[in-house]
Amino acid sequence: MTERPGRTSLTIRRPDDWHVHLRDGAMLRAVVGHTARQFGRAIVMPNLRPPITSVVAAAAYRDRIQAALRASSGEPGHGNPAATFTPLMTAYLTETLPAAELELGFREGVFNAAKLYPAGATTNSDAGVRDPAHIGPALETMERIGMPLLIHGEVTDPEVDIFDREAVFIERHLQPLLRRHPGLKVVLEHITTADAAAFVAEGPANLAATITPHHLHINRNALFRSGLRPDFYCLPVAKRERHRLALVAAATSGNPRFFLGTDSAPHGREAKESACGCAGIYNAPFALESYATVFEQENALDRFEAFASENGPRFYGLPLNGGTVSLEPISADDDNPELVVPAMLELDNGTATPSRLVPFHAGEVLGWRLKTT
Ligand code: DOR
Ligand code: ZN
Repeated sequence: MTERPGRTSLTIRRPDDWHVHLRDGAMLRAVVGHTARQFGRAIVMPNLRPPITSVVAAAAYRDRIQAALRASSGEPGHGNPAATFTPLMTAYLTETLPAAELELGFREGVFNAAKLYPAGATTNSDAGVRDPAHIGPALETMERIGMPLLIHGEVTDPEVDIFDREAVFIERHLQPLLRRHPGLKVVLEHITTADAAAFVAEGPANLAATITPHHLHINRNALFRSGLRPDFYCLPVAKRERHRLALVAAATSGNPRFFLGTDSAPHGREAKESACGCAGIYNAPFALESYATVFEQENALDRFEAFASENGPRFYGLPLNGGTVSLEPISADDDNPELVVPAMLELDNGTATPSRLVPFHAGEVLGWRLKTT
C-alpha cells in the first residue's frame, strides 16, 4: 500500500455483517467472538446440518449463539461484545417448507430473512431448492409481508462452467423471479462478477447485493499462486481481475444497494487441506480492516460508513446501530510483528482440541487496525 499523507483514525457508526456463517458447537464457540467484536448485528446463515427450517430451530440456534458468546467473553457488561451483539436469524428454504412457517417466524421477530440455496451449490445445500419456480407460495408470502429473500446466485448445472454460474443464474433464474415477484426484497449475496454488479445497479430499488472482503481483494489467480491455495477457495469462486475491479467500483460507489456481507465461512485446517477441500474463507477476525484498506486505496473512505453501517439496515428496514467503532491507520513500513495477521489461529472452543483456522490476509499487514474499546 502506498503511504497516504495525513491519515487519521476513522470512526464510524457501529457496522453490521449482512452475511456470516457462525456454525454450531465447538466451531461456533471458537469464532463467534470475532464477529461480535467487529459488528453490532449479523445475518446468520442457516446452512447447518440439519439446516434451520423452523422457527423453533432458529430460536434455539439464536440461544446457542448467545450462550457461546457469553462463554467466550464472560458475563455481559461494559465493553463486552456479548452485551452489544445481536444475531439475526434466517430460514433455510426447501421445497417443502410451509409459507406459514416463514410468516410466523417473521412476525415473531425470529426470522429476519430466508435464504435460497440452489440444491448442491455449496456447503450443506443438499436440502436446498432445485428450481426457484418450485417455491412460488413461499415467495408470494415473503413478498406480501416484506421478508427479504437472500440468494446464493449460482446455477448448479454441471454443463455450465464454474466461472459462469453466477451470470447464468441471473439470466436463468433471477430475472424471471423478479418478474414473478416484483415487490419482493431480494439480496443477491456475495456477488463476484461485473454482470451481477451491473444487474443490481440497474435493477429496481428492492434488489440489493452484499460484497465480501475477499472478492474485493483477490481474483482467481490467488487460487493458483505457486501451487494450489485452498485458503482462497470459496463459492462463488473468485473471478477474473476485471470482475474484481467492478466489485470494488460498486462497493465504493456510494450506491445504497451495495452493502457489507463478509461471507466469513470457517472450515478447520483439515477440512480445507483435503483431497476435496471445503469452500469458505475465514475473514471475520480482520473484516473491517480488510474493507477499510480497499476503501482507502480507492480514496473512498468517506463512503465506508454508508457501506458498512447504513445501507444494510435501511434495505432491511431496521434501525441503524447506536455506538461507534474506530480504526487506526497502520503505516506500511511499521515492522511491529503484532500488526501482521497471524498465519494460523488456534482458537479455544471449550474442548481439549482448539479450532485451527487460517484467517484471510494471513501473513499480511493491513492498512488499518480496529481499536479495542
Ligand atoms: O465459500 C462458501 N462457504 N460459500 C458458501 O456459499 C457457503 C460457505 C460455507 O458455508 O462454507
Ligand atoms: Zn455464505
